[in-house]
Amino acid sequence: MGLFSITHHRMIGSTNEEARRLAAAGSPHGTVVHADEQSSGRGRLTHTWFSPPGNLYISILLRTGEPPSRTAELSFVTALAVADTVDALLPQASRATLKWPNDVLVNGAKIAGILLEQVDGATIIGIGLNVLQAPANIAYQATTIVGCGGIASVDGARDTLLDRLAHHLAVWSRDGFAPVRDQWLQRSFPIGAPIRTNTGGVSVTGTFAGMDADGALLLDTPSGRQRIVAGDIFLGG
Ligand code: BTN
Repeated sequence: MGLFSITHHRMIGSTNEEARRLAAAGSPHGTVVHADEQSSGRGRLTHTWFSPPGNLYISILLRTGEPPSRTAELSFVTALAVADTVDALLPQASRATLKWPNDVLVNGAKIAGILLEQVDGATIIGIGLNVLQAPANIAYQATTIVGCGGIASVDGARDTLLDRLAHHLAVWSRDGFAPVRDQWLQRSFPIGAPIRTNTGGVSVTGTFAGMDADGALLLDTPSGRQRIVAGDIFLGG
């Protein structure tokens, strides 16, 4: 796997927690923690991440050498890698789409989540990909690779993902954020789509106007263009 050095656990609390611990202990760029199951998988904000056996749970420790101001760009780099992986595992006609900031969807249902954290000069990229099992009783629709008619082993999904991540990271290091942003926009919903954003309980309705050069969401509203740097978005306004 070239760049990556993988440690596998049958069961762990959270691969992101383990990767943070390894970062604090000085582990190098490319260290990967993979677990079959997590007992306290973490999602964005205060959410937990459904982590039974049968799905992919992985955290990748990166020391890119880029300034911390560019770290957020890595969530879009990662989303491209996850989308490529999903495309490779699904039947040919299916294609993953992306929802700002870093959800990966198939037919509008979430198939993977990405949790980016910065610690001790390192970046931890946590990825959960639903291969076999999707959570029930949640506020959004979720799906799986197998549920979408795909065939995958978890290890096969992991190897494809690391391969695609190495590719997109190389493009980002060489050519910067612009090509990443362009590819991301090609997979996102169309410019002009009606959306609503929610940032810390404040809701704004408008139309999708793309992504700024630093990864902020652009939203056109009756009172002008707004930049959204954090929050959740909902299609359909
Ligand atoms: C989200 O809320 O969409 C992000 C979910 C991220 C889940 C992954 S699973 C592997 C890694 N370890 C964790 O505890 N969380 C991330």
